[in-house]
Amino acid sequence: MSGDANGHDVVVSVQHLTVRAPQRTILDDVSLDFAASSLTAVVGPSGCGKTTFVRSLNRMVELTPGLEVDGAVVYLGQDIYDPRVNPVMVRRRIGMVFQRPTVFPTSIFENAAFGLRLIGEEISEIEREVEEALLRAGLWEEVKDDLDRPALSLSGGQQQRLCIARALATQPRVLLLDEPTSALDPAATQRVEATMQRLKEDYVLVLVTHNVAQAARVSDRIAVLHAGHLIEVGPTAEVLERPRNPLTAEFITGRFS
Ligand SMILES: Nc1ncnc2c1ncn2[C@@H]1O[C@H](COP(=O)(O)OP(=O)(O)O)[C@@H](O)[C@H]1O
Ligand SMILES: [Mg+2]
Repeated sequence: MSGDANGHDVVVSVQHLTVRAPQRTILDDVSLDFAASSLTAVVGPSGCGKTTFVRSLNRMVELTPGLEVDGAVVYLGQDIYDPRVNPVMVRRRIGMVFQRPTVFPTSIFENAAFGLRLIGEEISEIEREVEEALLRAGLWEEVKDDLDRPALSLSGGQQQRLCIARALATQPRVLLLDEPTSALDPAATQRVEATMQRLKEDYVLVLVTHNVAQAARVSDRIAVLHAGHLIEVGPTAEVLERPRNPLTAEFITGRFS
């Protein structure tokens, strides 16, 4: 791992990332490093490219036909877009949690074990890793006696933490979360935020949020996208209190009320 300007270990280095759709450029020359044990909030107006940005960080963007990616996303020294790199391996190490919980109609256990089954791990190993992932996701205490229950019988907030557990089970270094609480009530949001705050000690978290108050509560750093450009990035308090770009100020004022 190489160090960034502040001496932190860089886990992911986004270099001149440009994503084009047939008629337009969605992300334009975005460069940004992500250090170990950090939580970066990615904010900006609807349609500015937040989802496309996080989907570019684990090659999920390739699942959308017609998008062209330029530049590099260097994960632990290797460009994940190198043709020799297997995108399935990338997504195991750089996991994703979506806006709506993507729970499968199976048991709690099988949901958490999904990625491990794909790898073909032994059941004893799967049981151990599922427990560990559920603990880290802050869900274990609520479900440990009910692992065979249908996952769809859980509340929305529990389902979202189950999706976090599923992503954690394959031993990622990076967790991408695209507006993970926007479909949740305040109490469930609070629990997911508490989980994210614990996880940032051990992982690189990249949190897309339209909620500036949430960014203020949980992030160390804020990156602001505007019309596909990275217009500002800095420590959370600095960006919120002394934004450099007038567009950031406008966005924050509109959203923090
Ligand atoms: N596959 C695509 N083809 C064409 N345009 C797209 C595609 N995906 C996203 N866009 C456009 O790119 C812009 C950014 O989208 P998105 O990354 O979803 O933004 P955000 O998550 O910030 O709302 C939007 O204007 C959207 O319509
Ligand atoms: Mg989005």
